[in-house]
Amino acid sequence: MKAILFDEPGGPENLYLGDYPTPEPCEDELLIRVAATALNRADLMQREGRYPPPPGASEILGLEVAGTVEAVGEACDEWTVGDRVFGLVPGGGYAEYAVLHRQMAMRVPERMTFEAAAAIPEVFLTAFQALYWLGGLASERRVLIHAGASGVGTAAIQLAKRAGAHAYVTASAPKHRRCLELGADMIINYKEEDFADCVMDVTTGQGVDIILDFIGAPYFKQNVKSLAIDGRLVMLSMLGGRTVEAVDLGSLFRKRAHIITSTLRSRSLAYKIALTQDFIKTVFAFFKNAHIRPIIDSVYDWTDVQEAHRHMEANKNVGKIVLRIACEA
Ligand SMILES: NC(=O)c1ccc[n+]([C@@H]2O[C@H](COP(=O)([O-])OP(=O)(O)OC[C@H]3O[C@@H](n4cnc5c(N)ncnc54)[C@H](OP(=O)(O)O)[C@@H]3O)[C@@H](O)[C@H]2O)c1
Repeated sequence: MKAILFDEPGGPENLYLGDYPTPEPCEDELLIRVAATALNRADLMQREGRYPPPPGASEILGLEVAGTVEAVGEACDEWTVGDRVFGLVPGGGYAEYAVLHRQMAMRVPERMTFEAAAAIPEVFLTAFQALYWLGGLASERRVLIHAGASGVGTAAIQLAKRAGAHAYVTASAPKHRRCLELGADMIINYKEEDFADCVMDVTTGQGVDIILDFIGAPYFKQNVKSLAIDGRLVMLSMLGGRTVEAVDLGSLFRKRAHIITSTLRSRSLAYKIALTQDFIKTVFAFFKNAHIRPIIDSVYDWTDVQEAHRHMEANKNVGKIVLRIACEA
């Protein structure tokens, strides 16, 4: 099969379309003829040699796929060749064919395109896990979502609003309008305003119950300041840095703060299956009736993958960057 490959770690210029053995599904897996995949920051880091795939995962980039079932493993009775599916994979998405575990496959809703479906798994499952499983999302909770226009951020705003929560968001100025359209209750230009002051103003000094953070060290103290008593800071990335100097633990005790870090790719298969199944049960219906939708920034042909990576590296996207895969067979 054809796949996007790289021989040496480095920049986007190292990516090329090459030949790779077609994967074979084991008994619990579906072989997917991939129609679309989508970019994640993890792909950029893996390409740079800073984020190796977990043991047993494909070395090919790509954490999500949408496409058609081409073949089924022996234990996949619920799936049929030709079914339109999408889901999370531990790697291997940037290819004509990929394998997807039968219990992590989701049916593409009738009127949804493969491009839209490919934009869902990684960011929506991440936001769902962070808000519901780790953050305790419920109606009327106050949520601060950093990088609100990111793939995960655009998913999180929608999930929070659908749950009846209040969503306060940080983003750079050109992206504010899109965040407001998604339902954000307040948008903070983090480059000009102190987000903790804004949060305290809008919550009349009470703070927020949940924070979704991707920035890490530079935001840590302001995040703690923004928390309500018993609030939860869910940290998913360290885009801005990893070392926090001189933290006064008293500031955490005063809030009875919960500091939670999480990853998704390295979780066990059982965890990811449970997450996918809970996601289907809890929020999947909202996609079918279009109350929630994947936010697509751009769709690139996979032969333009270098350009797509540069676009994400420049922080230009609002929502997901999708790759359309053209199968030769
Ligand atoms: N732990 C997990 O389970 C998990 C799962 C999925 C993703 N992630 C991580 O979550 C993060 C978001 O992923 P994504 O795919 O949604 O990203 P994305 O769509 O590429 O968006 C990232 C956005 O973050 C903002 N940003 C970047 N660097 C920043 C900095 N130093 N300070 C402030 N804002 C900054 C930029 O928006 P502005 O223009 O608004 O600044 C940028 O567009 C990534 O780091 C990714 O690795 C973690």
